[in-house]
Amino acid sequence: MDHFLYRDGELYAEDVSIADIAAEVGTPFYCYSTATLERHFRLFDEALDGTPHMVCYAMKAASNQAILKTLANLGAGMDVVSGGEYARARAAGVPGEKIVFSGVGKTRDEMRLALEGGIRQFNVESEPEMEELSAVAQELGVVAPITVRVNPDVDAKTHAKIATGKSENKFGIPISRAKEVYAHAATLPGLKVVGIDVHIGSQLTDLEPFRLAYRKVADLTEALRAEGHDIIRLDLGGGLGIPYTRSNDAPPLPVEYGQMIKEELGHLGCEIEIEPGRLVAGNAGILVSKVIYVKSGEGRDFLILDGAMNDLIRPAMYEAHHDIVAVDEPEAGIEQQPYDIVGPVCESGDTFAKERMMPPLKAGDLVAFRSAGAYGAVMASEYNTRPLVPEVLVHEHQFAVIRARPTFDEMINRDTIPEWL
Ligand code: LLP
Repeated sequence: MDHFLYRDGELYAEDVSIADIAAEVGTPFYCYSTATLERHFRLFDEALDGTPHMVCYAMKAASNQAILKTLANLGAGMDVVSGGEYARARAAGVPGEKIVFSGVGKTRDEMRLALEGGIRQFNVESEPEMEELSAVAQELGVVAPITVRVNPDVDAKTHAKIATGKSENKFGIPISRAKEVYAHAATLPGLKVVGIDVHIGSQLTDLEPFRLAYRKVADLTEALRAEGHDIIRLDLGGGLGIPYTRSNDAPPLPVEYGQMIKEELGHLGCEIEIEPGRLVAGNAGILVSKVIYVKSGEGRDFLILDGAMNDLIRPAMYEAHHDIVAVDEPEAGIEQQPYDIVGPVCESGDTFAKERMMPPLKAGDLVAFRSAGAYGAVMASEYNTRPLVPEVLVHEHQFAVIRARPTFDEMINRDTIPEWL
């Protein structure tokens, strides 16, 4: 459920008209709903009621500080994957003790930043990383709390580019080697083992792969405890999928996911961490764009929008489907027609949808890409020297620009021309 609904014949975000925002901010822009963000975060938090837990929002999904602060105000921790994300979370007021640091390629500088600034734990992904972290911690005279990310070798049954839990993926250490790796960790003076980490992929629409992975983690917890390791925390990653269309089967709900976690892991008495990103932000954001031209091609009409692949890369990168709706509510029963919906960027991959049935549209009309809140703005670029798409946050009847559209000068002046030219 989200808070982008038609009212009086036009699309609203909570109590604000999308057309009013477009008139003030221009298009394209991302628009997020506070109520939806909060609702989705609470669904996870409540799903783990009765179990000691922390929901660490995977901020890679949407990392504007206003979004982070909205969630942090509800008690969210953060899952970060770079020094930049760590700094951003801290700037948004998230305390170090609520930040977990994931990722296969943490550098010494990133480790230092987090150790000096405070960190809940590092989710370590390899033995070389373990050694490096121990050395950095020793240099600073501190001890780094860690989990080791295990790769459980389960098929997440999702898009190949976002599956991470098969043995051929670059993530984690093979679960078959876990005992050895934990024994190694225990010998490193700069580290303190606190738990186990697992994350098998994103946009999972079935609980079974999670269940299989978590069962393996439960067995491993007992095996490692038997060898004297103090496993007090289980980080279960993110990955629960969202409905991208109104028609397809809805993925399992957070409450069902939480129930399954309790069933599989409740007996271990561990603190549970989860790292949802997409389910918190995905349906809490839309991308609003304007039709520039309607162009008749051979056997098809093109809707040429002012938004492009640089603003929302998911269709080009993963063949992802986003529902696209007219901001002016179509009259009931109006005949729809197929459009190829494209952006102005100079490559054919800049296609959002082919033969998409839409009400008749004309130049100047606004459309909204639904489910664009996660992995939308954060993956945007300035390709074709198009300004980075701005972001707007709605809260009930108010809205605020939370990232402004850069001017051409701001974009261009970041280049420096060497003196020999
Ligand atoms: N934890 C870790 C260690 C992750 O790698 C990820 C996502 C998450 C949590 C959050 O997963 P979520 O709950 O959002 O599924 N750009 C792609 C998605 C890449 C996901 C990468 N890792 C897309 O647009 O679909």
